[in-house]
Amino acid sequence: MKGLILCGGKGTRLRPLTYTSAKQLIPVANKPILFYAIEAIRDAGIYELGIVVGETQPEVRRAVGDGSRCGVKVTYIEQEAPLGLAHAVKIARPFLQEEPFVLFLGDNIVREGITTFVERFKASKPDALILLSRVAEPQRFGVAELREGRIVRLVEKPKTPPSDLALVGVYLFNHHIFEAAEAIGPSWRNELEITDAIQYLIDKGYVVEPHMVAGWWKDTGKPEDVLEANRLMLAAIETRIAGEVDDSSNLTGQVVIEPGGRVVNSCIRGPAIIGEGSLIMNAYIGPFTSIGPNVTIVNSEVEHSVILTDSTVSDVPERIDDSLIGRNVVIKRSQAKPLAIKMVLGDNSRISVG
Ligand code: G1P
Repeated sequence: MKGLILCGGKGTRLRPLTYTSAKQLIPVANKPILFYAIEAIRDAGIYELGIVVGETQPEVRRAVGDGSRCGVKVTYIEQEAPLGLAHAVKIARPFLQEEPFVLFLGDNIVREGITTFVERFKASKPDALILLSRVAEPQRFGVAELREGRIVRLVEKPKTPPSDLALVGVYLFNHHIFEAAEAIGPSWRNELEITDAIQYLIDKGYVVEPHMVAGWWKDTGKPEDVLEANRLMLAAIETRIAGEVDDSSNLTGQVVIEPGGRVVNSCIRGPAIIGEGSLIMNAYIGPFTSIGPNVTIVNSEVEHSVILTDSTVSDVPERIDDSLIGRNVVIKRSQAKPLAIKMVLGDNSRISVG
């Protein structure tokens, strides 16, 4: 089998972070979301991976390289415009050839991995195997309608969802999906929808097997999804202190301090992770916080947040909570008059002043 990860898309709901970064490279528990997909596929025994890339191709290539660091062999496939998931499958045909494959959307995280689904697919040999998960807002996803355990209909982002069963962004296919991708036309959003391609398989009498995802699954499309995925991933970390913690600091719960990380006169309540070369001084880091590499937090409090590389938070009087902060951001208290909130914010930034 082969793997196909989709890394295109504009990530509009994650702006401004996605102006400068691919959404699939936003870190969760200090690891880019995309790496969870690569590792899940590798752990299922699939080592030949195609990654479909768009505008953010250079950045994705820089992060993943030839895949050898993750123990896989990566081939990049260029998609000239985000024309849909089924379009991506179509253009990947020269790479996939006639082999069955797993299609994995690079912004999805499936906590339990995909090994059982791959094994299931190999054992029962359907034409397609799809994963489903109950969600609170089915209108945000592809939705399945089942009757007696069989799929009768799939609809993409329905206004009136027929069920709360969302299509998870992981699919297993054999070569019949190419016939389907060729046969369908673009949707209202001008994309070749994989949902429509699977509906074609169902209509033509091909075998499409549904499976429920038992553990949690996240499509990290929105900032709150990233924070939730971060929370869920951190819940499973184990304490590892590779950096320095001085005697006047106090660590409780599961805490990771990466090499070169320094904690001085601070309180960290895990689960939390402090990246390489970061400094936490006279600070409080609360549960479910991921501090990226080379970040400085001084005289400030941060909780339930994700802070990316090279940012600084200093002397901020109020606790920072529920926040997703990009690279190279500076948040500081200034004594300069007039005492006011002064901001330089990118387009689509959001600030809530408490
Ligand atoms: C895509 C699929 C949708 C699926 C979702 C899962 O949506 O079209 O059926 O439920 O991924 O993440 P998109 O991310 O293109 O909005």
